[in-house]
Amino acid sequence: MSPKRQTRHFLTLEEFSDRELMDLLKLAAKMKSEPRKYQTRLKGQTIAMIFDKNSTRTRVSFEVAMVQLGGYALFLPRADLQLGRGETIHDTVHVLSRMVQSIVVRTFTHPTIEEFAAHSTVPVINALTDAHHPCQVLADLLTLKEAWKSFKGKRLLYLGDGNNMSHSLMLGAAKVGLNIRVVCPADFSPDPQIVARAKKIALKNHCEIEILHSLKNIEHAVDAIYTDAWTSMGQEDEKERRKQAFAGYCVTDSMMSRNPRAIFLHCLPAYRGEEVMGSVLDGAQSRVWDQAENRLHAQKALLLTLLK
Ligand code: CP
Ligand code: NVA
Repeated sequence: MSPKRQTRHFLTLEEFSDRELMDLLKLAAKMKSEPRKYQTRLKGQTIAMIFDKNSTRTRVSFEVAMVQLGGYALFLPRADLQLGRGETIHDTVHVLSRMVQSIVVRTFTHPTIEEFAAHSTVPVINALTDAHHPCQVLADLLTLKEAWKSFKGKRLLYLGDGNNMSHSLMLGAAKVGLNIRVVCPADFSPDPQIVARAKKIALKNHCEIEILHSLKNIEHAVDAIYTDAWTSMGQEDEKERRKQAFAGYCVTDSMMSRNPRAIFLHCLPAYRGEEVMGSVLDGAQSRVWDQAENRLHAQKALLLTLLK
């Protein structure tokens, strides 16, 4: 039997139906308001966290989530594993699947995490690849739901790189029926195949996904403005080229004051003075600290859903 058919992974958000995603957000809100009720729900369960890239929020929120659910998380940077000396993903996953209840992976290419999932008999959770960051979007949707109660008719403006965040936000927005406009330089557009997948879901859920390459008239009546770093992990060599390409894409105070009812979100880490002014990040419209905290609550709900 193929492990893929038996095991439910979380790689792109698309593994969950729209209904299941809404249920997960509800569960996250419930777990946030009554954390004590869930203290032993994953007692005796362990997750392995294999990280090929740096992390503050994702690592800490998964580790704390497991502690708060009565379980345990092993943090395993690749260099410390035999994986770092040439043992295959196949063999590593076969061993880990016998010992832990889930494998959380942060890595570079998306096919790498698909390889983990293909061999795993326990859920593989995407803690970020170059193409997707679905755990972040769970927290983002939870934060937006707290602010708005419902996604219906709301408009999210994503300004910046057509990267992993833009992909996961488009898929997440489409699934909950939220309109999203991605504005990016043409050379930094999102992957057309992922855009097409998100548009298909959006059509069914009566919401719109737009990709624009001009900064003119982009902020018409938006309810949230979201940005991410211009240079993602692994792209450090392109930093200067990217700084030039994204000139004008900084989220400023005047942009926020032209959208007085909009909230500001950022997955973090933020680079103050580049993609966002420090005053916006620390300003009255910013929800970034709630958003970061919500990583914990959203992932507790995810772990409970996948591991129960
Ligand atoms: N937003 C996010 O994933 O942050 P880390 O890189 O710190 O985990
Ligand atoms: N796009 C960023 C997100 C970090 C959370 C990166 O991949 O580095």
